Amino acid sequence: MINLDNFPSFFIANWKLNGNFAFLKDYFTKLKSGSKNAIVICTPDIYLNFQEKKSENIFCGAQDVSKFDEGAYTGETSANMLVDVGIDFCLVGHSERRQYFNEKNKDILLKSEKLIEQNIIPVICIGESLQERKKNITNEIISQQLEECIPSISNCHNTLIAYEPLWAIGTGLTPTLEEIDEVHKLIRNFESKFNNFKILYGGSVKSSNASNIVNLENVNGCLIGGSSLKIEEFNKIIE
Ligand code: PGA
Repeated sequence: MINLDNFPSFFIANWKLNGNFAFLKDYFTKLKSGSKNAIVICTPDIYLNFQEKKSENIFCGAQDVSKFDEGAYTGETSANMLVDVGIDFCLVGHSERRQYFNEKNKDILLKSEKLIEQNIIPVICIGESLQERKKNITNEIISQQLEECIPSISNCHNTLIAYEPLWAIGTGLTPTLEEIDEVHKLIRNFESKFNNFKILYGGSVKSSNASNIVNLENVNGCLIGGSSLKIEEFNKIIE
C-alpha cells in the first residue's frame, strides 16, 4: 500500500465516462510530474492498464469497484482484479454512483472494506445536496455518512476521505473557503480516529481556485472532474 504520509497533498483526476486511447496517449505525454504531491488519474476501467507510469508520484486509480469478490455479477470488476493491474487508489461512493446506480452507504462500506483488504486506498466520497444544505442539515448528513460509509478497519494510513458537496459537482459553484474548511473540520473532529485523515475537497475545482482551497488548514488535496479532462488546466492545478 502507498504510504500516504509521503505526500503533502493529493490531486485526483476523475475522468468519469470520458476519454479514448488517443486522448489517453496525449494526456500522459503532456502530464507534468514535477511536484512532490501525489497525482492519481482515475480513467474508465478499460484504460487502467494502459496508463503510463511517468514518475514515482503519479498513480493509477479506478472509479469504482464491485462489492463482490467473484461470481455471477455481470459487468463488475473486483478489488482483486484491480490489484492485478496495479491499481493503488479507487473512488468509492461518488455522488454519481449514488444518484444513477442507487449506491447506498452500506454498499460504500462494503466496497471500501474490499479495497483495504487488497491494499488499495479507497477515496470515500461524502457530501450533502443543495436541499440538505438549505435545510441546514449538512452536519447531520456528513455525520451519518461518516458513520455508515467508513469501515472500522479504516485509518489515516489506508483511507482517504473526499468531501464533495453534490451541488458543487460539475456546476461551477463552489462553497466559500470558510464553508469548505468548516465541513473538513467537522470530519476531522467527528471521532478521534479521523484527526489525522487526509481529507480532500471536490466540486468545481479549477486552476483559479485550487491553490486557495488546498491552502486551507484542513484540506489535503482535491478531487477534480471536469478540469482534469483539460490537461493544460490540470497541469496548472497540480503545479
Ligand atoms: P467537477 O467534478 O470537478 O467536474 O465538479 C468533481 C467530481 O465529480 O469528483
